[in-house]
Amino acid sequence: MLEKIKTTADFLKKNIKFQPDYAIILGSGLGGLVNEVEIAHSFDYTEIPNFPVSTVKGHTGKLIFGTLGGKNIMALQGRFHFYEGYSMQEVTFPIRVMIAMGVKALLLSNASGGMNPAYEIGDIVIINDHINLLPSNPLIGKNYDELGPRFPDMSEPYDPIMISKAKAIADKLGHRAHLGVYAAVSGPCFETPAEYRYIRTIGADIVGMSTVPEVIVGRHANIPCFAISIVTDLGGFEEAQKVSHEEVLKVATAAEGKMTGIIKELVKSL
Ligand code: HPA
Repeated sequence: MLEKIKTTADFLKKNIKFQPDYAIILGSGLGGLVNEVEIAHSFDYTEIPNFPVSTVKGHTGKLIFGTLGGKNIMALQGRFHFYEGYSMQEVTFPIRVMIAMGVKALLLSNASGGMNPAYEIGDIVIINDHINLLPSNPLIGKNYDELGPRFPDMSEPYDPIMISKAKAIADKLGHRAHLGVYAAVSGPCFETPAEYRYIRTIGADIVGMSTVPEVIVGRHANIPCFAISIVTDLGGFEEAQKVSHEEVLKVATAAEGKMTGIIKELVKSL
């Protein structure tokens, strides 16, 4: 694994003269952020040694280097999900590479189902903690001490400074934003009514199928992490509501302006 990470990071370093300071994973709701990035270099995932290739509609595969809000960033346009059949190591490999490139923080976005009764479709949730309900963990297997400790501390999974900055930015921009707990499930089914109620009962405000593996790897390497979610559907209430990928993408796309604005201002403030 160490060799693979090094090969990929060396390939990128050899091909560009650019030091990224922040890594951004453009999940649902942040695709439009690329239009705000002054792009210096862009690679198709297929050009990058050892990179997995993305398979889901709405997630194209590009690794982008450039500036955003005056800061040097690298961005993954298209993430890898466990439900696509990738191992946890494959899902998080790009994060390991970004860390090897020397980034100082990891910023992610996703779409989620809201279970907190105070939430509405289209709301933004700044994630302040998570529950890993995935059937695995990217750190299972041999631990490489060069990457992080065998038993990493997870008392501060999301960086409190970035959380408070993002909340202030959202308020200033007039976007409804909550701080909330994200539960990660494998998918690809959306939840049954009983599953939404269960996930709510154990303490989550929103549920989705990504982000947690990446954050675990980020925290393993002691990198501050930030994640923002767009609530695309609601679950766990009296009456079951149908959820579809099309609806999730529609709401996420409609919220792109809000999500992009917050991330851009946040990066500028770092
Ligand atoms: N459940 C899981 N993942 C999701 C949901 C949901 O309701 N909405 C968007 N991603």
